[in-house]
Amino acid sequence: SLNVDFRSSGQKIPDSLFGISFEEINHAGAGGLWAELVNNRGFEAGGKNTPSNIDPWTIMGDESLLVVSTDRSSCFDRNEIALRMEVLCDNTESTVNSCPAEGVGVYNPGFWGMNIEKGKTYKVIMYVRSFESINISIALTGPNGLPTLAKSEIIAEHVSNWTKVEVMLEAHETNHNSRLQLTTTRKGVIWFDQVSAMPMDTFKGHGFRSDLFKLLADLHPGFIRFPGGSFVEGQWLMNAFRWKETIGSWETRAGHFNDVWRYWTDDGLGQFEFLQLAEDLGALPVWVFNNGISFNDVVDSSTIYPFVQEILDGIEFARGSPESPWGSIRASMGHPKNFDLRYVAIGNQDCWRKNYRGNYLKFYSEIKSAYPDIQIVSNCDGSSQKLDHPADLYDFHVYRDAKSMFSMANYFDHTMRGGPKAFVSEYAVTGNEAGRGNLLAAVAEAGFLIGLERNSDVVEMASKAPLFVNVNNQGFNPDAIVFNSWQSYGTPSYWMQHLFKNSNGAILVNSTLHYSSGNSLISSAVSWKSNDGKTYLRIKIVNFGNNKVNATISIDGLKRNSVRTNGSTQIVLTSGNVMDENSFNKPTKVAPVRSALKNASNYMKVTLSPNSINCFDLLI
Ligand code: AHR
Repeated sequence: SLNVDFRSSGQKIPDSLFGISFEEINHAGAGGLWAELVNNRGFEAGGKNTPSNIDPWTIMGDESLLVVSTDRSSCFDRNEIALRMEVLCDNTESTVNSCPAEGVGVYNPGFWGMNIEKGKTYKVIMYVRSFESINISIALTGPNGLPTLAKSEIIAEHVSNWTKVEVMLEAHETNHNSRLQLTTTRKGVIWFDQVSAMPMDTFKGHGFRSDLFKLLADLHPGFIRFPGGSFVEGQWLMNAFRWKETIGSWETRAGHFNDVWRYWTDDGLGQFEFLQLAEDLGALPVWVFNNGISFNDVVDSSTIYPFVQEILDGIEFARGSPESPWGSIRASMGHPKNFDLRYVAIGNQDCWRKNYRGNYLKFYSEIKSAYPDIQIVSNCDGSSQKLDHPADLYDFHVYRDAKSMFSMANYFDHTMRGGPKAFVSEYAVTGNEAGRGNLLAAVAEAGFLIGLERNSDVVEMASKAPLFVNVNNQGFNPDAIVFNSWQSYGTPSYWMQHLFKNSNGAILVNSTLHYSSGNSLISSAVSWKSNDGKTYLRIKIVNFGNNKVNATISIDGLKRNSVRTNGSTQIVLTSGNVMDENSFNKPTKVAPVRSALKNASNYMKVTLSPNSINCFDLLI
């Protein structure tokens, strides 16, 4: 039996208790949320070396017809590499080999195929240079060059200086595994640089793939942590995410090798875009920055100051006035208004690494003296002992098997009160039993989150990690959202988070669960007012056991007739088998099902299915 005492409502749950944690992992951004279709658009993937790594660009035609190489002739200072294509064949001159009818050149298959859809428009931009006149065909085609889905010819005479070319291609057929081809049938040398193909239907034109953005927005996240995780640290400092390298117009960005998750990113999704994403989601940005520590090298605390200045500049970029040096760059990128940056985290999982405290203290004191209101997150665990340094929050990561995740629900019952609050910025059930994200993981995580709700006096924020996975690069499993070039779905853990989104800013209502045997149940009660002024009481009960449970719910402080049957509902997240997962074919096999709560009252008999998350939403 569960007794809810509506008279003794507890504390207000933080407005941003439940949010999301974005990391550039599993091609979450490059080839994922960031809708750019071209992979390695500046040919920079090999760094500043020549020949550079042009992968996945592929040459069309053999050596007798063209020679493709890279050089450092780009017109952009920060990304020097350009592609040089020397065409040896010609279809207008009889003295040389003729080119094949389809031409010779290069193609880019994007990130495991580009999704091109009939009726949609794609903006292709590139930079070209040649000392001769050019005749280039720009085409979106199927995977083997056929069929042609959209095409445009560029004929130009005076391009001896780098020239920006922009075309709109409207697709007249759909293919989810397409490529972008740049071909010619004319002899000569052409240089290409910064080739981009963007769908025109991104969220507000901000570059976020619309289906993936919607999955995030539907969660109503209170915050978004970015850009990682380990991605922030890097295996080596030279490869870590450096925000200044990721701002300015896209074609000027260098891109960098994500050496933790081992892939190249063009940094289209840069610092500005992360802040924009937070704003578009209505979520508070939480910026995790590199603190001069990577997996393999560390900056000495005595020489950390340039790193500290970089972060102070980053805060100014986010929230300085449009007249300030860095705020003016944000304004020039189209956002004169400041972004609502209130939280920063000094590093990721670095507490135990050499120099953490020394570096941390320098970041902390400089940030606090310039921006006293900024909330600073330490990497050291403040739940088991008092921190030996000042902090507003401490980071807490939980990766466990399902059983111990469920039992972690009680963890914060026993932690100290009065100190910095916990930011549970990464939690997930992992291991083989979690599959690629199944009901078992979702139910155990829901139990854990109930524990966080009940302890939200000491837990300020929580997010599951990782957020996204491209099925072609499943580097870390399980994840909340799975996608390929054109499809996406939420795992059961994604749907589980939906059942907690109303808790942000809600009032925790006291409740006590009595059970006769086992400890596979956990519950909470929260109340909130909806936008139309209605008050709801949500009673959540998670059944982590394999048996059906018959329970009674009694609510003190509410008269029977103050609960409205019409408008009260029940939501259940369960499935026939605890190992069930969602898939592209059955994206909502395990998803919440809402139905009328016909017996809504201050005393109810309810049945809890095995391995289920149950919400009883009473309209009062
Ligand atoms: O969420 C995946 C990884 O797990 C993160 O990059 C890291 O912080 C943690 O170890």
